[in-house]
Amino acid sequence: SSTSEAFRVVRHPSPATDEERAEKLRDLAFGLQFTDHMARVTWDAEQGWHDRRVEPYGPIPMDPAASVLHYAQEVFEGLKAYRWADGSIHLFRPEANALRLQRSAARMALPELSVLDFMESIRSLLALDHAWVPEADGTSLYLRPFLIGTDVFLGLRPPKKVDYLLIASPSGPYFAGGVKPVSIWVERDFHRAGPGGTGAAKCGGNYAASLLPQVKAYERGFDQVLYLDAATGSVLEELGGMNVFAVRRDGTVLTPVINGNILEGITRSSIIQLLEDNELKVVERDITLAELQDGIAEGEITEVFACGTAAIVTPVGRMASSDFEVTVGDGQPGPVTLAVRDRLMGVQYGRVEDTYGWME
Ligand code: COI
Repeated sequence: SSTSEAFRVVRHPSPATDEERAEKLRDLAFGLQFTDHMARVTWDAEQGWHDRRVEPYGPIPMDPAASVLHYAQEVFEGLKAYRWADGSIHLFRPEANALRLQRSAARMALPELSVLDFMESIRSLLALDHAWVPEADGTSLYLRPFLIGTDVFLGLRPPKKVDYLLIASPSGPYFAGGVKPVSIWVERDFHRAGPGGTGAAKCGGNYAASLLPQVKAYERGFDQVLYLDAATGSVLEELGGMNVFAVRRDGTVLTPVINGNILEGITRSSIIQLLEDNELKVVERDITLAELQDGIAEGEITEVFACGTAAIVTPVGRMASSDFEVTVGDGQPGPVTLAVRDRLMGVQYGRVEDTYGWME
């Protein structure tokens, strides 16, 4: 629908006191603290989306036969609310997240929430919980909208009951240690997505499937996993929860083309725009592992970085697989990586003029 009804408000009977909140906002890590409230909208096949409300944050009682618990009917989003120096609060391209949530929902045969409801859920939650948007350098309020199938039925079919929820987590950096480069294990045995699969959808299942390779990479001493395409095993796709870029010595920047298998990152597309406006040539195409590996070894590729809402821009210092190991450049964050990170965060935190109309 093109209209959004107001969200009714059920206030938390005992929200955090100013002191308790200040304590929780100290030394923030990623995704561990939550605000007093959450937004919620219910859908069923008869009424469509209804019962828009903001209610106290807390456990959501669920029937053990709820379909999400069995068939993983779940899609989610991630976006951030930033506190600017003047105290005002800004979102980065929220409509893009609303539209991607619709595309993810469509892929999983879940109902699509309107952009207006998505936006109104954020506004309604922030109207109550704005004091939870932290102000310390590099922090933000990470917003996690998601849809779950709540149908009480063990047959496999699209759910006839669904909940949309929005929770908010005051957060610090996803990777502790600032812009410290991460190391990447290139995965040969496991794939993240296959042709015709769910790789482009932001569904929980994609992330669940990335955990075993992630554990194996940790055991080998690596921070993150880079996946190759399932069809040929030779073309770069993305990391478990981030897109990837490579910078050539001649200043050209490469990133895997959107092909139905990788997430259409909003940070990814924003970075492409920022680089192009900085007179760099960006090429979206297939990048083979051989090209990356040889390019890094020969100094043709001087920087690699990962990006995402949570990860922002994260330099990659080292890459390896069963048959090679290379240091990217001198292993330190490169100039293009640092410049685009600075520019992106400058727009997000209101330090640089938002010539794109990205902030809301
Ligand atoms: C995000 O970057 O917002 C994501 O959803 C990735 C997740 C692994 C934190």
